[in-house]
Amino acid sequence: MKKDFLWWRDGIIYQIYPRSFNDINNNGLGDLAGITARLDYLADLGVDALWLSPFYPTPDADFGYDISNHIDVDPRFGSLQDFDDLLHASHERGIRIILDLVLNHVSNQHPWFQQSRVDSSNPKEDWFIWQDSIPNNWESVFGGKAWTYDEKREQYYYHMFVKEQPDVNWRNPEVRKAQMDVLRFWLERGVDGFRLDVFNVYFKDKELRNNPKKWGRRAFERQHHIYDGDQPEMESVLKEMRSIMNEYPDRYVVGETFFATREKIIRYNGADKLNAAFDFEFLWSKFKPKKFLKAIENWESLAEETQIFPNYVLSNHDSPRPATRYSKSEDDDRAKVIMAMLLTMRGTPFLYYGDEIGMRDISLKRSEIMDPPGIKYWPFNKGRDGCRSPMQWDDSVNAGFSKEKPWLPVHSNYEQRNVALQEKDEDSIFNFTRDLIALRKANKTLISGKIIIPSKMPYKIMSYIREDGDEKILVILNFSNRKRKIDLPVGESWHILFSKHEREGKAEKEMMLLPYEVLFLKNS
Ligand code: GLC
Repeated sequence: MKKDFLWWRDGIIYQIYPRSFNDINNNGLGDLAGITARLDYLADLGVDALWLSPFYPTPDADFGYDISNHIDVDPRFGSLQDFDDLLHASHERGIRIILDLVLNHVSNQHPWFQQSRVDSSNPKEDWFIWQDSIPNNWESVFGGKAWTYDEKREQYYYHMFVKEQPDVNWRNPEVRKAQMDVLRFWLERGVDGFRLDVFNVYFKDKELRNNPKKWGRRAFERQHHIYDGDQPEMESVLKEMRSIMNEYPDRYVVGETFFATREKIIRYNGADKLNAAFDFEFLWSKFKPKKFLKAIENWESLAEETQIFPNYVLSNHDSPRPATRYSKSEDDDRAKVIMAMLLTMRGTPFLYYGDEIGMRDISLKRSEIMDPPGIKYWPFNKGRDGCRSPMQWDDSVNAGFSKEKPWLPVHSNYEQRNVALQEKDEDSIFNFTRDLIALRKANKTLISGKIIIPSKMPYKIMSYIREDGDEKILVILNFSNRKRKIDLPVGESWHILFSKHEREGKAEKEMMLLPYEVLFLKNS
């Protein structure tokens, strides 16, 4: 790779939900050794970094996001030795590792909380947010009041998520130090970066004031969250984290901005704060060029104003997969169109495991739901289990994920939709994705070139130019199931750079796009 290639900015980041990726120890849950065993697959796909969702010891109230020890591996997923082996083997292949750090809350089984709840005079008594009575109207994201009574301590504690996830008290300097030690622990082991889970809610209002009310469906949405998050103290924590990260070369920290806004992204990014902060406009967009273009324009104007490099997320472990959102039945045409869009953005693309084979969400009966918001809000919200089903490797039992019954069911389409089959099929979304990743790597313009959006586009067509010096790449995506005529921009002579429809050589000035066609042209 070229010298000026910065892995976290210019590369492709692939998110793995470890318990669903590959089960080597056959306990129905994926594990770290399972990821190591698939590194050649990931290297062949062409990804530059893996973001691993939590694999730390957890009682599973929120499937890994309730952590009872931040500096260990849950024995069901392996050991610290397995982690070191994974890190080493990834680095050998030029793949970086980003860990999910959940520092807003811990599991109620964490020794910190166990000690804190004993009484109000123990050394950790102030490590959580305790009150004699419920002080305000704050709600939990996953339903119900954000304050729960603890019988032992005879006080209420605050939890933004489920009651098994008490929020730590970041205002206590000892807590802050303990959290920074977690960072150091993993940096010393050699990890390349972190994804900070809901970082912008670490601090809550000192006076615990009521949030103002607004219109919304669920109780949590019926408040303006001005006092239970985004407090001014957060910036100094990010600065401290960044200065620790800076002691190690080439490290990266991306924040999951809870309820991202433009203003928050600006506030938390910067040379002495986060390297990147998520924005989920792509993820929530309808299958309409206009909507995606709006998201791109927002990022671009922000980038122009601030030098923040955009990132694009189409999918993660908290929301339905793109193929589920946009495709009908098993057809991958739409999934390919938006994969092509993601991989030609001026911004870091985040890929979620299984999207490269167009995995669909599983649908579960009420009795099978595991995810807390799904249990609470069925049928209005069926939870997030759907997008967390086991990776579909081949057509053997349990899709080659495990020899034992997986923790969540494998999608019933696995015999037709799996890696082994798609690797052999030239037209598969897997080969499409892999080819596009390779194309992006081979054409620096697709990574760092400017993005130019024409002022007018034919109906249901999305097109943009990536430009670097004299080189231009024109991306044309047909969002429609019909043929569409387009006129190419004048003043250039274009030739085909990428097409799955046997188009070659020079492009005509006027072209007839096929339904859902993806076409890249280069000037010559
Ligand atoms: C983040 C995670 C989500 C988790 C929540 C609480 O939003 O992405 O999966 O449930 O934080 O940790």
